[in-house]
Amino acid sequence: MSDIKNIKDEYLLKLSKDLDVNQINEIKTDLFGKNGLVSSQFKQLGKIPEDERKKFASELNDIKDELQNLIVSKIEEIEIKEINQKLEKEKVDITLPGRPFAEGKIHPVSQVIDEISSIFSEIGFSVEEGPDVENEYNNFTALNTPDNHPARDMHDTFYLDEKKELLLRTHTSPVQIRTMLNDKPPFKIIAPGRTYRSDSDQTHAPMFHQVEGLHIDKDINMGHLKGCLNYFIKEFFEVDKIKMRFRPSHFPFTEPSAEVDIGYEIKDGKIIIGEGDKWLEILGCGMVHPNVLKNVNVDPGKFQGYAFGIGIDRLAMLKYGINDLRAFFDCDYRWLNQFGFDPIDVPSSYRGLSR
Ligand code: DAH
Repeated sequence: MSDIKNIKDEYLLKLSKDLDVNQINEIKTDLFGKNGLVSSQFKQLGKIPEDERKKFASELNDIKDELQNLIVSKIEEIEIKEINQKLEKEKVDITLPGRPFAEGKIHPVSQVIDEISSIFSEIGFSVEEGPDVENEYNNFTALNTPDNHPARDMHDTFYLDEKKELLLRTHTSPVQIRTMLNDKPPFKIIAPGRTYRSDSDQTHAPMFHQVEGLHIDKDINMGHLKGCLNYFIKEFFEVDKIKMRFRPSHFPFTEPSAEVDIGYEIKDGKIIIGEGDKWLEILGCGMVHPNVLKNVNVDPGKFQGYAFGIGIDRLAMLKYGINDLRAFFDCDYRWLNQFGFDPIDVPSSYRGLSR
């Protein structure tokens, strides 16, 4: 009997200490495992004289219950403590300031390409693309500009091989050729993209952007060309009326050819499009030359139409008041931050946090 009292006292003392779950489980095995101290006392029961057995058994059961209950409640206590510690650690502090994020900007040239594409798509033009590396044939010969043609001088570019068969395209006009070789008329496309020439000053960069337009069908005439450009310029500059003039010009791939100027004036240091008596050249255009149509297997007796080529960078500079073309390609983050466009509407509370 004193044996089990000793066991009880010893283990109550042990369990009163600061223990972890593993240590408690060890105690549990010591006491109630197969050969545990309490378990072996039960095995002894048969050896105890009958008159003492009942009392002993009841005492042993009490001790067993007491120690077992204590063990269970100790384990529970530890588990609750761990949960509380975890909750404390993982608590969200809603008073902390928001984390700033870097907000990207859309480059004005990309923005203007999107605007141009959406304006022309409203009147039925689809958007085509061609590669920056072009062959000599598509860039010149097919566009009625054979070798040694004086017009090639104005398109001095970067050749990529000794034989001068591959080059960086000097204009987007070769996309006209690619489109017409790939399909059957009618054609009604625009083709925005990069173009290259050996040129560099405040208004010329060796890489710049153009958008080509081509409309070929059975009864297309110069009136359609005028109407289309008039609509585009008004939509692009968001004005109700514009002054536009066609100046006779020459391009080998159009006949007749014209350059288009728009009227403007400067008020308080700002360019106002559509008013005033100054003229600004913005594009080249004309009726597609029959030789070009023949080169792409389109019968000029049945089909005809117009084409135009617009300098995108110039339009972006005019619309958004940017006066040095080179800034477009400097990759200066501060400049982009000032002239770039927001890709999506960011909640105003986040603005200013961006950097
Ligand atoms: N490709 C010409 C250039 O880069 C621009 C141009 C003029 C394109 C007349 C045309 C056009 O399609 O019809 O200077």
